[in-house]
Amino acid sequence: MRLGILGSGSGSNMQALLDAIAAGSLDAEIALVLSDNPDAYILERAAKAGLPTGVIDCRGFKTKFPDEAQAETAAALKSAGVELVCLAGFMRLVKAPLLEAFPDRILNIHPALLPAYPGLQAWKQAIDDGATESGCTVHYVDGGMDTGPVILQAKVPVFPDDTAESLHQRIQVEEHRLYPEAIRKVAAELGI
Ligand code: GRF
Repeated sequence: MRLGILGSGSGSNMQALLDAIAAGSLDAEIALVLSDNPDAYILERAAKAGLPTGVIDCRGFKTKFPDEAQAETAAALKSAGVELVCLAGFMRLVKAPLLEAFPDRILNIHPALLPAYPGLQAWKQAIDDGATESGCTVHYVDGGMDTGPVILQAKVPVFPDDTAESLHQRIQVEEHRLYPEAIRKVAAELGI
């Protein structure tokens, strides 16, 4: 199964997928890693692992993912033979040009138990809300903000002395276990 990864940040989830592949628990290969941020650490990690990388040209927009850039992203993923697209800390909303190129084949990982705390800094939202439990969700991407159908979730406790940072770290441990598991589930359903 050929995976395409889109990320804007540190790429620890991509690393977890690479580790699962190396350990033989995920039967896949990462065919292409793309980022909208040329300085993102995910690109450095990918290059160190010998993976093909590329930068998405978002035409100077800070948060928007312009249609032309989505079409170029879809074309790059297709020409790399990607079968399943995994968003891993990708900070722009995916819309029609990319969704239509990979129908029901784009996944995202979110650091909360959706539908609770969609959007940015979900771990901080949980702390500010006084939640006693949070976690992470792998879901299909549908064009909304963290709204697609849920594939798998994992819970973590929130302790009274947690900071946003300590909670995010606990959630990330679960993310790194959950994402490979969710990809295995989707691959089995799709027969890829
Ligand atoms: C993760 O917490 C993920 O849930 C969220 O962005 C973060 C990405 O972390 N969507 P990393 O770049 O994989 O380390």
